[in-house]
Parts: sequence; structure tokens; C-alpha cells
Amino acid sequence: MTVMSKPPATACVSRPFAPRFGAPASISPAAVFPALLFVAFGMLVLLMSACSNEPPLALSPAAAEGREIANANGCASCHGKDGQGVTAPSWQGIYLEQIPIDGGATVLADEDYLYRSITDPQAEIVRDWTLKMPKNSLTDVDIDAVIAYIKELR
Ligand code: HEC
Repeated sequence: MTVMSKPPATACVSRPFAPRFGAPASISPAAVFPALLFVAFGMLVLLMSACSNEPPLALSPAAAEGREIANANGCASCHGKDGQGVTAPSWQGIYLEQIPIDGGATVLADEDYLYRSITDPQAEIVRDWTLKMPKNSLTDVDIDAVIAYIKELR
């Protein structure tokens, strides 16, 4: 009896380690290879879609100028080089939409709203955006062009 009680005790101590060392060996190369192929294929698809998304933006001259202005004045770093939104809301399709703002109301995104958003960024804050949009030094002519650009981002 007393002899029997020892072996199980040591078996219990060594047991937790056994499956850990055993596990990696059970993943065979035959199982890993298809998984790697899948990941590689996914990356390829992502890469190709990123390239084919380049600029098929058909913009009027005024809007194209607005895009240049937005991209040259740092707007693009937050709103995206195609206005697609990065750390700031997208401009795509917002024109004449109802924009939810802080406080529960919504505002019609007409030219006045866009002008106000650019000249006085804190006037209305798009709901749920905590990042503060900085002030900028765009002239009214610049802003008109940027608004023309935003209007054409459908
Ligand atoms: C540091 C990041 C940042 C930069 C740079 C920036 N913005 Fe913004 N912008 C924001 C954020 C965040 C919001 C949403 C919160 C708010 O309403 O202030 C916003 C909101 C706006 C809106 C309202 C969008 C909507 O969906 O209603 C317009 C228009 C706009 N920005 C234009 C511009 C223009 C033009 C520039 C360049 C002169 C610019 N922004 C630069 C962060 C930025």
C-alpha cells in the first residue's frame, strides 16, 4: 500500500508538461502548408485590390482642384487622399445627407454646413468622433474648391 502511493504522485507532477511538448509535433507540415497558402493568397488579393483602387475618380476641374488643396493642406492625413476617411469621417456620399452630431441632433450636410465644418471645426462635432479637427488656413476660394470636391464624392 505505501509503495503504491508514490508513483501516482510523480505522475501528476510531470503530467501538465507532457501535452505541451507534445502539441507542436501533432501539427504536421501537411496541415500548415494549406494554411500558409491561404494566408499568402489573401495577401495577394488585398494587394491587387489596393492597386486597382487607384484613381478612377472622375472629377470636374473645380473638384480636382479641391482634391489637390485637401491633399496639400493635410486634410488627407485624416480624411484620406480620396476622402474615404481614415482618422476622420469619410467625405464620400455625405453631401446632402443628415449628419448625426454631438448632442443628439442631425444636420443637413449642405454647402453651409461644409463651409462651417471647415472654417469653425468645433461648431458641430460629428457624433462619436473624439479626435479634434485642427483649424486650417484655407481661403474661401480654397474652401469652395474643397466643397466642390466633397460634393462629387459619391
Ligand atoms: C487631425 C485630423 C483632421 C484633419 C487634419 C482635418 N480634419 Fe476634418 N475632421 C476631423 C474630425 C475628427 C472630424 C469629425 C469631428 C468633427 O466634426 O469635428 C472632421 C470633420 C470634418 C468635416 C465634417 C465632415 C462630416 O462628416 O460632417 C469636414 C467637411 C472636414 N472635416 C473638412 C476638413 C478639411 C477641408 C480639412 C483640411 C483643411 C480637414 N478637415 C482636416 C479631423 C481632421
